[in-house]
Amino acid sequence: MKNLSDLVSGYRALFGTPAFGYRAPGRVNLIGEHTDYNQGFVLPAAINFSCWVAAAPRDDNKLIVHSENFHDTVEAVLNGNYLQRSRRWSDYALGVASVLEKSGYSLPGANLYIRGEIPLGAGLSSSAALEIAVACALLEIAGREVSRVKIAEICQRAENEFVGAHVGIMDQFVSCNGRAGHVLLLDCRTLKHRAVPFPSTVQLVVCNTMVKHEHGDGEYNMRRRECEAGVEKLWRVLPGIQALRDVSLQQLEAHRSRLPEVIYRRCRHVVTENERVPKAAAALESGDIVAVGEMMAESHRSLRDDYQVSCPELDLMVDLARKHEGVYGSRMTGGGFGGCTVNLVDRSATVEFKRHVAMEYHGATGRHPDIFVCDTSDGVERLSLGAAESAARELST
Ligand code: GLA
Repeated sequence: MKNLSDLVSGYRALFGTPAFGYRAPGRVNLIGEHTDYNQGFVLPAAINFSCWVAAAPRDDNKLIVHSENFHDTVEAVLNGNYLQRSRRWSDYALGVASVLEKSGYSLPGANLYIRGEIPLGAGLSSSAALEIAVACALLEIAGREVSRVKIAEICQRAENEFVGAHVGIMDQFVSCNGRAGHVLLLDCRTLKHRAVPFPSTVQLVVCNTMVKHEHGDGEYNMRRRECEAGVEKLWRVLPGIQALRDVSLQQLEAHRSRLPEVIYRRCRHVVTENERVPKAAAALESGDIVAVGEMMAESHRSLRDDYQVSCPELDLMVDLARKHEGVYGSRMTGGGFGGCTVNLVDRSATVEFKRHVAMEYHGATGRHPDIFVCDTSDGVERLSLGAAESAARELST
């Protein structure tokens, strides 16, 4: 309720009365890292840290967006063309508006007030959550009903084409379609998905290394190009393949000599990681958390050594977690190069886990880590602001 009332008060102070709002969650990925843009499998959960947007239509064709986190307002004129990119937080919102307009959804003017509670640059998809909440708000103002799958695709395009980060669909998809009490097994080629129950005895704990990651361009996009280079070379001997999703470990080993060593290692990560995801989902379903934990350990090693997207702080955080009693699994989550680890911790061990890991990580690095005990959450939801709106009105009179 605090988020909701702060959202409404913030909106009121700038724009007057909001019409409605949306809450879109961040995510942690249990396993299946850097597989989404290789048309593979992922197993993320939406979490109870969200981006909140309050909105109302305007009479003109202006889009005015305020970010509470950045204390910043941007203004743009909607005229059916791509808006100006500025390499700031606002690109995520303006990118969504641009792609919507380019896709034929003509948008009327709108005021948007954004309040994010997902730590930024921590690998928990604060940007995808913002995109989804903004897309839902703009579509409602435009009076258009669009499926959740389509909304995820539009937001992925905004990030690919406007922001310039060639991300896959995982983050946007789970922010739309997550389900409380579950993780989502998603096939990123067909977009078929299945909610897999998350055991109630296990706690999801996210440890932030406090090392910020950035993948607007640079290393993330480079990994993607390396995977494409692998597919191109393998395609000459395996003409049926479209993506690394179609390559087995046996095939990769058979044609190893055709690939430069670095490309081979990138491919090996994707191929082995992709094989782990359905197995981890099956293990979770049968209650074999120990097996899930082992696969998480393999995943982390593969990301560290073959894909080379970890960093010393993430490796340390994982090592500290694994030493702790009651921990089933620990690995880096998200794009990498900093950000967070995801941990499966027995509920009875959570408090001690938090205390020890924080202390030891601080002792070794001098950084105070944020450690979040997370719950799984539903995907994006519409907020009726009625109650919060009357409360805020009373406060301001
Ligand atoms: C980022 C991207 C996702 C995915 C992960 C790595 O979070 O946004 O599409 O590629 O990295 O698994």
